[in-house]
Amino acid sequence: MSFRALKNYLVMAREKGVAHAWQAVIQRCSEKYHERRLGIHSAQIVQPHEVGISNPNAHSYTPTEFGHFTAIFKQLPIPPGRHVFLDYGSGMGRVLILAGQYPFKRVLGIEYAEQLHKVALDNVAIARDRLTCKDIQPLVGDATTWPVPDDVTVVYFNNPFHGEIFTGALARMKESLDRAPRPMAVVLYVPRPGPSRLDRMVRDAGWLEVRHQFDLSPERMCFIYTTPDWK
Ligand SMILES: C[S@@+](CC[C@H](N)C(=O)[O-])C[C@H]1O[C@@H](n2cnc3c(N)ncnc32)[C@H](O)[C@@H]1O
Repeated sequence: MSFRALKNYLVMAREKGVAHAWQAVIQRCSEKYHERRLGIHSAQIVQPHEVGISNPNAHSYTPTEFGHFTAIFKQLPIPPGRHVFLDYGSGMGRVLILAGQYPFKRVLGIEYAEQLHKVALDNVAIARDRLTCKDIQPLVGDATTWPVPDDVTVVYFNNPFHGEIFTGALARMKESLDRAPRPMAVVLYVPRPGPSRLDRMVRDAGWLEVRHQFDLSPERMCFIYTTPDWK
């Protein structure tokens, strides 16, 4: 660890407490371990304007924490070969690779920023051999209008956007379900504390039921919703 990083952790310990700083050290070690294990580079924060996104409802690229993804899918078991995974705002592809460790039929990601999408293509190519699911497709498009393929059954949102982009994504999902009725699960991975506006929008849409709601850390929580026919 560099002297600068050590100094930042000491400042954090003084301002937010030793437990908080210790948690941050563990998280940093976990990031480095998993990135090296998979041979990928996805641990950055990128602001929308840095990758040509001007919509104020778009959020920055901030990857899902490795341990959090595992904790979420403990609550949502995936039987082999039955489900198709979609990551909304797939960024540098970390979640596509993590989903590829589960026995999904195929894994899709839709990302607005071409620059992040190119990194995702490289990361997926590097990690593919080590994954259970080999059919992983990072795609470029706008979640607002992109038509959801009619085999998608598990949808993941790591707080990618709000407002009309999120409303549009929910509408595209519902259109797909109307064309091809099937069970669907939706995961929201969002900041805490405080009420999540995305959770409110899912509940207001009225076609999904809350199955689980849990904290993952002092900063993050998860909601899992399903259609009533999900088993
Ligand atoms: C918080 S990051 C999530 C990255 C990745 N899913 C993960 O969890 O590691 C949100 C991503 O949503 C993307 N995004 C923002 N607006 C979008 C839109 N309209 N359509 C598709 N992706 C969008 C951002 O560029 C960013 O990469």
